[in-house]
Amino acid sequence: MKPDWWKEAVVYQVYPQSFCDTNHDGIGDFNGIRSKLDYLKELGVNLIWINPCYQSPMVDNGYDISDYYKVNPIFGTNEDLDALIREAKERGIGVLLDLVINDCSDEHPWFQKAVHDPDSEEADYFIFKTTEDGNPPNNWRSNFGGSAWTQIPDGRWYLHTFDKRQPDFNWESSKLREKLYDMVNWWLDKGIAGFRVDAITFIKKDLTFASVPTPDGSLYQIENYQNYPGIGVFLTELRDRTYEKRNAVTVAEAVGVPMDSFTDYAGKNGYFSMIFDFNWYNMKGEADKSSKEAIYRWRNKMFDSQEQISALGWSGVVLESHDEPRGINKFLEPSDQNRTSAACLGTIYFFLPGTPFIYQGQELGMTNSIWNSIEDFKDVMVQNRYRECVENGGDTEELLQELREYSRDNGRTPIQWDGSKYAGFSDAEPWIPVNPNYLQINAALQKNDPSSVLSYYKKLVALRRDPKWKDVFARGEFIPQREAEDCLIAYRRMLGDKMVGIFCNFTSKEQTVCVSEEVKEILLNNCGGLEHETGRMTMAPYQAVVLSLQG
Ligand code: GLC
Ligand code: CA
Repeated sequence: MKPDWWKEAVVYQVYPQSFCDTNHDGIGDFNGIRSKLDYLKELGVNLIWINPCYQSPMVDNGYDISDYYKVNPIFGTNEDLDALIREAKERGIGVLLDLVINDCSDEHPWFQKAVHDPDSEEADYFIFKTTEDGNPPNNWRSNFGGSAWTQIPDGRWYLHTFDKRQPDFNWESSKLREKLYDMVNWWLDKGIAGFRVDAITFIKKDLTFASVPTPDGSLYQIENYQNYPGIGVFLTELRDRTYEKRNAVTVAEAVGVPMDSFTDYAGKNGYFSMIFDFNWYNMKGEADKSSKEAIYRWRNKMFDSQEQISALGWSGVVLESHDEPRGINKFLEPSDQNRTSAACLGTIYFFLPGTPFIYQGQELGMTNSIWNSIEDFKDVMVQNRYRECVENGGDTEELLQELREYSRDNGRTPIQWDGSKYAGFSDAEPWIPVNPNYLQINAALQKNDPSSVLSYYKKLVALRRDPKWKDVFARGEFIPQREAEDCLIAYRRMLGDKMVGIFCNFTSKEQTVCVSEEVKEILLNNCGGLEHETGRMTMAPYQAVVLSLQG
């Protein structure tokens, strides 16, 4: 296996709560994932990333871990997970687990000890401060709203980048770091392929803990403290003591890394195999998604970022995740949302440099759900924001409207397997409501339909991994086409004597497009046919094609 084998991989993200339930409690589980391994093999992916499945009070859906060595019983037993890892491997599928080491749950025994005994070793595993005036130590704001500090009964304050029930670790403690490395190695010894590494750019803090003045006196967004100087020392040590020795693959959620640090993170000898390229994966704030200007801005962000990254290192490319609404809703106007445009979106990102990730349900063209009231939402971030809005006398109707469109819960509804009650996800009421459109959009309907989104995604994966072409996609040059017809998103990939062209007509209108090269072969096409002659082709609305132009 090549040392950078993961450049040829296609990853599928499993959000375990919402994937498949087998023990009738309305929550997805390991045996549910096991029962769908053949589905994943047929889709063609060779890595799956499973969101946190460790013991947790589930305040932030498992990102608040109370025991790193035990799985959450709602998902099954450690043995079930072992079996899942083994059975996946038998099908040529590696498993990535989520590594959450910026923070843990306030129910973790270390934190409990730290709270009850300020002189304990564990007290040094977290960030505690005392103040004279009864106010929080500084004006940092948590990513989930409110102050980043919470006070405990003895008067000390502790720091949390996210919810108050997710205390941040003190990475300055070498004893803590040793404990974390032991844990990471313990999981690697189980034969997993590697990790998706959570919120990792937050582990280094500004040790002066000084307040940052803001123009209107509001709290200072802690997000600005990502990638703080000195973080490289920790990340190098983490890599060298754990995954480096085992050729494991690591994908970091490393938001806030500027391009001039990209090589440190995901270059040849970077801290990680790759980091996600989030520079273009949402269009939030774009008023009119289908306007030329918005599409060009989006396309240029994608091209700029991918062009720079492909010179510096490697990225994971994504359209969706458990932290985002559905791609179809993010990038397409309601009137344009259909199977052709869903396939077009898939084609746009699938052949970029970087390893493509498919988020569960994306391959079915799943969409945002319907949210009637605030009670429908499950996300702690939503609840915190709503509470903050009420406390500050804000406009809750306006917030609700925003949440309907942008809430992460949109991506967390159960997978729509078939048209039976609860969409075949479970036979009990699911923990989060099924999207009412499951009768129209589900895997059973799409499985044997050659024109379905699912069938198209199988072709995307097959082409990306095709022995004849995979090197072009994994190692070829990226040549974006910046001068193009209306809203055409086009780029070429080139390696040696092979050249592939990706052309996506991202509009609801037919248009004629120039192609300067001769079309040797149509490798992929999301529409019936393609009218082409030397120099030009006519593309249907949202038509996407992948063409062999050389080799
Ligand atoms: C990461 C996860 C997100 C979680 C956050 C805090 O960003 O992707 O789901 O809420 O960490 O734990
Ligand atoms: Ca279950």
